Amino acid sequence: MLILIKESYAELSREAVRIVANAVRRKPELRIGLATGSTPLELYRELVRLHREEGLDFSRVVSFNLDEYIGLPADHPQSFHSYMRRNLFDHINIRSENVHIPDGNWRGSLSDYCASYEALIAHAGGIDLQVLGIGKDGHIGLNEPTSSLASRTRPKTLTQQTIEDNRKGFGPNEQPPDAAITMGIGTILEARRILLLASGTAKAKAVALAVEEPITASVSASALQLHGDTTLLLDQEASADLRHGDYYRRVAEGTRRLNPERLW
Ligand code: PGA
Repeated sequence: MLILIKESYAELSREAVRIVANAVRRKPELRIGLATGSTPLELYRELVRLHREEGLDFSRVVSFNLDEYIGLPADHPQSFHSYMRRNLFDHINIRSENVHIPDGNWRGSLSDYCASYEALIAHAGGIDLQVLGIGKDGHIGLNEPTSSLASRTRPKTLTQQTIEDNRKGFGPNEQPPDAAITMGIGTILEARRILLLASGTAKAKAVALAVEEPITASVSASALQLHGDTTLLLDQEASADLRHGDYYRRVAEGTRRLNPERLW
């Protein structure tokens, strides 16, 4: 894992934009895996600006979102479909037929549907670059603690913590969804490159467990230790519980000198 520690959320986002925009410029038909949540918001805002002001072209990009709530109408403001439209897709030139988000209102067999989502990813040639956030409980996608490290796209029951974290966007009389369809950890690990963004003290513990403790199904993000090309982009706060922050800073410097390709 390459761990990049930035001063602030703004700087972390700037670096994320640089990485994602470069990936799109280098490979206009990039297969990108996308995440929702508050952390990538500034990344998406800036990608929209680059599209508008510098013509960053998404016309051949193919996207796959990690997850979607089960049972929430796709046009509900808190659905991940709505989030993606509002924050990115409505403002760039990605083609609607190239956008994939799990269907949380699928009426038939969910296991068949999830297998078909996997098949779509495989048919597209796999994911080149997967953007991830991390939950306070260490989840990636919505792979809650004890998810198999080999798991594939499937329905998943959410922890109480995740339900509470997601409650803010719902009205006082609304019950936030308690289940989602999520790519599995095995699915995520097949992406060629992974970029995980973490900001704020609430994430510090999960980040430290994922990076500096043994791989365990209790902390889904620890599975990233098995992936050969993962970059963790952290702000100071999210890196606060790391024991070896100074070493990671030196590694980042060394990478700039010895293996700049790794920094994309
Ligand atoms: P957040 O969510 O970006 O809103 O903190 C991340 C996650 O739960 O994966």
